Amino acid sequence: MILVSGFGFLIYSVKPLTTPPLLIRGGALLLQGQPQPIPKDILITAGKIDQIRDPGQPLPSGVTELPAKGLLISPPFVESHIHLDSALIDAGRCINQSGTLFEGIEKWREIKKTLTIESILERAEETLRRQAEQGVLFVRSHADVSESRLVPLKALLQLRERVKSWTTLQIVAFPQDGLYGHPDQLDRMEESLKLGADVVGGIPHYELTREDGVNSVHKIFDLANKYDRLIDVHCDEVDDPQSRFLEVMAACAIRAGNGPRVTASHTTAFGSYENAYANKLLGFLQHANINFVANPLINIVLQGRADTYPKRRGVTRVKELWQGGHNVSLGYDCIMDPWYALGTGNMLDAAHMAVHVCQMMGQSEIDACYDMVTWNAAKTLNLGEAYGIEEGREANLVLLDAPNRFEAIRTRAKPRHVISRGHVLCQTTAVNTAWP
Ligand code: FE2
Repeated sequence: MILVSGFGFLIYSVKPLTTPPLLIRGGALLLQGQPQPIPKDILITAGKIDQIRDPGQPLPSGVTELPAKGLLISPPFVESHIHLDSALIDAGRCINQSGTLFEGIEKWREIKKTLTIESILERAEETLRRQAEQGVLFVRSHADVSESRLVPLKALLQLRERVKSWTTLQIVAFPQDGLYGHPDQLDRMEESLKLGADVVGGIPHYELTREDGVNSVHKIFDLANKYDRLIDVHCDEVDDPQSRFLEVMAACAIRAGNGPRVTASHTTAFGSYENAYANKLLGFLQHANINFVANPLINIVLQGRADTYPKRRGVTRVKELWQGGHNVSLGYDCIMDPWYALGTGNMLDAAHMAVHVCQMMGQSEIDACYDMVTWNAAKTLNLGEAYGIEEGREANLVLLDAPNRFEAIRTRAKPRHVISRGHVLCQTTAVNTAWP
């Protein structure tokens, strides 16, 4: 069955019961750690990458051929930080007048009283479809579990099941109003983990006191240990150079020895720390081995709002963390919600913004920003062998209208074909401009 989407020039295919082998022919395969893509054909059989073949080999019998000449074969984009429960709710109203994080939280606090499971499902699925059209097939979303009925979490858990045949959704139990913001919040966290949230979230810089913030980080690690879950904390998402919960996360990860399962999101205060402290912290982080997610599209507009001039960029030290060998990924964070009125969900937007805001304009730096929305983000999500273009792995890949990573970011290239679970999920025809 073929469906024509209302968004762009797209065709969705609904998976038939049996699919003939698919040969992607004539494209250039992007391999992790290789500066330039290599001409390869990809044979997909029964949903798996069967063979990565040198070009020019005879066509196997009974295959469907997908011409890919001039296209870049890339692993899918990975969204490592988004809030699907609030996505698309702003719908062009621009309701955050001050543009600050804190007005966003206040606006959301009122909105979330009115949410229904159906309304979240509709907007969140629409967002996932828009992201899939742009090559995103793995998504980590935060669900606000400070909403007393746990409606955002329950909606996203339903959505995780509904979409699992074509995208992978990971859900963070995120207490937006603080782990100690309400007497029932700890119970809600435990309930959320019992219901099936994949990741324990937190927001220590939004707790009432520094002590509450420190205690919240310890509690998050206890919960993750008790329920065997990953950790992803909104950490130090302020300009205050005294907001220092990242060091607490690092200490907890060092002592627990679970750094690769831990993510510090935002850490914008890291950009405001004086260098003497930042350098000491970078040393500790070498032992912690945790993941970082920066959200440059959102933090370039949310942060620095109390500054006159010079005005801070409000983004964590992406380049220094990357140079230090840390795993850094980039998230979109918000799409048309109380924190960010714009947004398309194209991860190359986030990479493009990171190139600018983090001043990563060298060739290897631009390539690294592409890696931050693919392989690095997959590592943040602990996807392991569920991700990557290798023989025997599930066939998830995108065919981008670009020759390499540099051009993909420069043009924010759209995928011509998105392959999910071994079949063509959606296709976008090339946009041609004519000069009469
Ligand atoms: Fe966030």
